[in-house]
Amino acid sequence: MPHMSAPTLKGVILAGGLGTRLSPLTKITNKHLLPVYDRPMIYYPIQTLVNAGIKDILIVTGGNHAGEFLRLLGNGAEFGLKHINYTYQEGEGGIADALRLAEHFAAGDRVCVVLGDNLIQGNVRAAAEAFRQQKSGARILLKDVDDPQRFGVARFAEDGSGRVAEIIEKPTDPPSSSAVIGIYFYDSWVFDIIRTLKPSRRNELEITDVNNAYLRAGLLEHSMLDGWWTDAGTFESLHRASNLVQQTGANCL
Ligand code: DAU
Repeated sequence: MPHMSAPTLKGVILAGGLGTRLSPLTKITNKHLLPVYDRPMIYYPIQTLVNAGIKDILIVTGGNHAGEFLRLLGNGAEFGLKHINYTYQEGEGGIADALRLAEHFAAGDRVCVVLGDNLIQGNVRAAAEAFRQQKSGARILLKDVDDPQRFGVARFAEDGSGRVAEIIEKPTDPPSSSAVIGIYFYDSWVFDIIRTLKPSRRNELEITDVNNAYLRAGLLEHSMLDGWWTDAGTFESLHRASNLVQQTGANCL
């Protein structure tokens, strides 16, 4: 029998955007360099990828302080990495616009995309393994939260199959409490999808539109995340993130 090797999975951290929701903190530095308890925010998504066995990593930065990432991280020796790739997003055209810049790096391989302001208590090893077993498509992670209207939210099929029927970005009337967290797995089709997107009402290319495109094609799977998850992009969630890290640690299950 021919040897079938698992498809290569590369990591992409999206740390662009201007972080205006955290002004004036973000006037003099990039949001993802702000402290979350005892480390800069960007350390957590890097650790998330490394803990999932992903060592080929691209960081998409932006804004006026992009050079500071290189000064802070270098080639990632602190994380046991040999090399980190960097690229730069002009403006803040949205999460899918930032991901577009990873096409050259992905070079046809699959990617695990982590938003630079997302922290988890545990790991995504099981989801990464499930995605490696998928023939194609995408996989998202869901987590039940108290404030789903702040996120992309899953509407489940009414047939009891447990399948996601639609993802709605920041719904005023959430169809469930399952938020789509900022860790996504995609095959190389993602870059073709991004080319078809139109800017949303907030004038961004939305990652939720990418996920719904996979859904319509019947190619979107999901996993549930164990342990806590938080973003850190508002004053409240940045504060909560620091408290959670202090209380339990992050990336530690
Ligand atoms: O945190 C999870 C949520 O993230 C999802 O549930 C939502 O579906 C998704 O749209 C996103 O929501 P936010 O509106 O909270 O995303 P935000 O604009 O705060 O961006 C999150 C990160 O994405 C940010 O820390 C860096 C990266 N980003 C964002 C934008 C707008 C970029 O790299 N470039 C960008 O232009």
